[in-house]
Amino acid sequence: MDSVWRIVKHPSMVAVALVAATACRAPETQSTDTRTAIVLPAAGRDAVLAEMRAMLVSVNGVLSAATHSDTAAIRQAAAASGMAMAADPTFEKYLPPEFLKLGLNTHQQWDSLAAASRGPAARDTAIARLARLTSNCDGCHATYRLSVR
Ligand code: HEC
Repeated sequence: MDSVWRIVKHPSMVAVALVAATACRAPETQSTDTRTAIVLPAAGRDAVLAEMRAMLVSVNGVLSAATHSDTAAIRQAAAASGMAMAADPTFEKYLPPEFLKLGLNTHQQWDSLAAASRGPAARDTAIARLARLTSNCDGCHATYRLSVR
């Protein structure tokens, strides 16, 4: 406490302390995230993120099933993220056209992965298609972030 009082007694030190405090706080308040922010209501953000988590469950499901060459389980895990599960259209108006296009393509790829993973080559087909499909995940994540208004 002694040193604090010594600073307060010297106005120039108060200025130095303020500048130092501001500089220390900057990294917390200023994000370095330069991705395009999609501004949407909290319920929309929650719906998009729930859909994302479901797709990660499908990635895990397809890979786990592939390690056992369980074709039926591969198809089931992939179909769970197909067009049928696409997000509630209520929030589509907040999403940029490019985002919607990439999202749609991703759901379609889940359906085609499910359809193509048949027969003796099912395992290899699923893994090859999953590699292609997950580049959509990476591409979109590198471009967009969500921000609640
Ligand atoms: C069309 C764009 C788009 C595609 C395609 C996409 N994502 Fe996302 N995803 C996002 C955005 C935007 C966020 C939020 C990122 C942020 O705000 O930092 C996100 C967040 C997530 C999260 C975090 C969820 C949470 O609860 O915080 C996971 C997991 C995820 N995505 C998985 C995936 C997987 C797996 C795929 C591909 C199979 C995928 N995403 C494809 C746009 C996309």
